[in-house]
Amino acid sequence: MEYQEQFVQSVRFYFQEEGEEWIQELPELIHYCEQNWSLKMEDPYSLSINYVAPAKRESGKEVVVKLSIPGTEFLDELESLSLFNHHGMVQVIDFNIEKGIIILEKLSPGYTLATVENDELACRIAAGVLKKLSISAPSNTRIQTTAIREESLRATLVQNEEGYGPLSSHVLRTSLSLFTKLNQSIVHYKLLHGDFHHYNVLASGNAWTAIDPKGLLGEVEYDLIQFLLNRLPEKDVYDVTKNRVDILTNELNLNKERLLLWGYCHTVLATSWSVEGSDYSKPFYQMIEIFERMYKEAYGKEVAQYTM
Ligand SMILES: Nc1ncnc2c1ncn2[C@@H]1O[C@H](COP(=O)(O)OP(=O)(O)O)[C@@H](O)[C@H]1O
Ligand SMILES: [Mg+2]
Repeated sequence: MEYQEQFVQSVRFYFQEEGEEWIQELPELIHYCEQNWSLKMEDPYSLSINYVAPAKRESGKEVVVKLSIPGTEFLDELESLSLFNHHGMVQVIDFNIEKGIIILEKLSPGYTLATVENDELACRIAAGVLKKLSISAPSNTRIQTTAIREESLRATLVQNEEGYGPLSSHVLRTSLSLFTKLNQSIVHYKLLHGDFHHYNVLASGNAWTAIDPKGLLGEVEYDLIQFLLNRLPEKDVYDVTKNRVDILTNELNLNKERLLLWGYCHTVLATSWSVEGSDYSKPFYQMIEIFERMYKEAYGKEVAQYTM
């Protein structure tokens, strides 16, 4: 079977041997899905590290099959899909935990929010979806809080005390200390999407629906940052971001100060995740300074001076 080149490389990079074995097993897994759910799989979508393809059931009903390497991330996604329970979120039709399979309703027309050229409109649509996704954090769940994001940054700093990729030791330390302050002062925990951005929001009928939740508990302000890092223009990034922040803060009635501080922390983290050898995400990296500047302009002090 021929797969998308980038998909195979990413699976090998992230999952090493386990990923290689999973790629070998894919034809068998696809065959299993076709037999078990009486469906015919079609060509996959543009893939990252999961195999996602539309499929048609014998009844004529269209679905989407998502195959992932079974494990923590798969279980978190499955649990958060079911916790959101169709509130602004794609519906699960069936699943197989051992094999890492989820059968989803197919969203149609299914184009992503990235196709909406008008940035202000895209922000308002995103806010509308987030309003629907708003549910309180459940008490009994395997899904972790944003403290795991702080831990991820701490691990990077411990292994790279002199700095990591384009991130200086000072930036790593400042963002880690802010992460701690913010995590310690969360009052209302919500169930978050965990990877909310333009490519994980799809047109469905006359509405917009989220897909692909990572599952996380924390503040809604945190959930917006990944969105703010996506679909940025070539120029006027500061002004566009400021406008986005204002629209989202107003529409969702958010705490702007915490949003900007989470923005700084998460952007440092997202940049650290993007480091591969001497390469890293420049669009993410540029946003660190933008959040710093925006915070200073609004609150008259450095992010490092924030006190609870
Ligand atoms: N329920 C769905 N209906 C229509 N298209 C979908 C659906 N789920 C996923 N897709 C398409 O597949 C792509 C990848 O799915 P996604 O769940 O985001 O995978 P990944 O975890 O690899 O990002 C999406 O960007 C979208 O184009
Ligand atoms: Mg996705």
